[in-house]
Amino acid sequence: MEDLIGLKEILRTVAAKAAFATIDHIGTGEKEEGDQAAVDAMRQAFDGLDLDAVVRVGEGEKDEAPMLYVGEKLGNGKGLMVDIAVDPVEGTRLMAEGKPNAITVIAATKRGRFWDSGSAYYMDKLVVGAQAKGAIDIKKSAKENLEAIAAKLEKPIGEVGVYVLDKPRHHELIEDIKSCGAKVYLHEEGDVIGSILALLPGTQIDVLMGIGGAPEAVITAAAVKAMGGEMQGRLAPQKPEEEIALRNEGVDLARVLRLDDLVLSDWAVFAAAGVTSGPVLAGLAREGEVMQTECMTIGPALGQVEKITVVSTI
Ligand code: FBP
Repeated sequence: MEDLIGLKEILRTVAAKAAFATIDHIGTGEKEEGDQAAVDAMRQAFDGLDLDAVVRVGEGEKDEAPMLYVGEKLGNGKGLMVDIAVDPVEGTRLMAEGKPNAITVIAATKRGRFWDSGSAYYMDKLVVGAQAKGAIDIKKSAKENLEAIAAKLEKPIGEVGVYVLDKPRHHELIEDIKSCGAKVYLHEEGDVIGSILALLPGTQIDVLMGIGGAPEAVITAAAVKAMGGEMQGRLAPQKPEEEIALRNEGVDLARVLRLDDLVLSDWAVFAAAGVTSGPVLAGLAREGEVMQTECMTIGPALGQVEKITVVSTI
């Protein structure tokens, strides 16, 4: 367990350093530059650390953004052997446009235990917290899922809050949710943060529904595992090329991916740091030469959530 507590500290430090590196890119429209700064800061933060880490899930390929590439080794190869799933800036557009909810995220689990997202860019996802565990089934309709979630949470369906990415592909889903009377919370970007909201008690969000990034699904799954929540996913290619690549790889598109398929381990650690402020994390602030951000870790103990403010000088 001591090793895992050390790992949590490392991930928090890495997430914070990546966030600090983006400070001059917020609101500049510089999506790529901000992402690159976070990637470089993450890579540098791992330099020389007692850790034997391999990146299993990097993010950025779909936008040809800079990324910590899959298979890249991090740390000095001497410590705990782990898999890393990372999104140096989750919500690059939010950062570039100075909108709320951009974060840096990094997660880890046992070596070889993260699902390999391969050529998959998009996944349909359902995420709930521990209290609604057992209520979801991605093969069922939104209505059936919302009814089951409401029953499990012992509240009327009209009080169930659903986080959905505000994308044209979700028009029908949004109408279905509304027609059940559940509340829809639409966000332009950021389904990792939406999942965190669903996992944390006391937010207005009970479930994340809809199609988002497949790499983000693995990062999310680490948080779900660490919180004791539930998640199901199914690949949902959005372009013919993606579907052809997956079929050529023999991927079964109908397969339901459950939490243990995405993170096959009894533990995972998740860390995030605020870039721009949102309902979960305060974003970067600077006064003179002092910068600060808020960091959240989940795990390694089940349901262990910590939030602290991290300070750095320029
Ligand atoms: P980025 O950080 O790569 O910009 O991802 C933001 C995001 O909104 C994710 O949270 C989500 O999973 C994905 O993009 C959805 O992709 P798209 O915007 O292509 O629908």
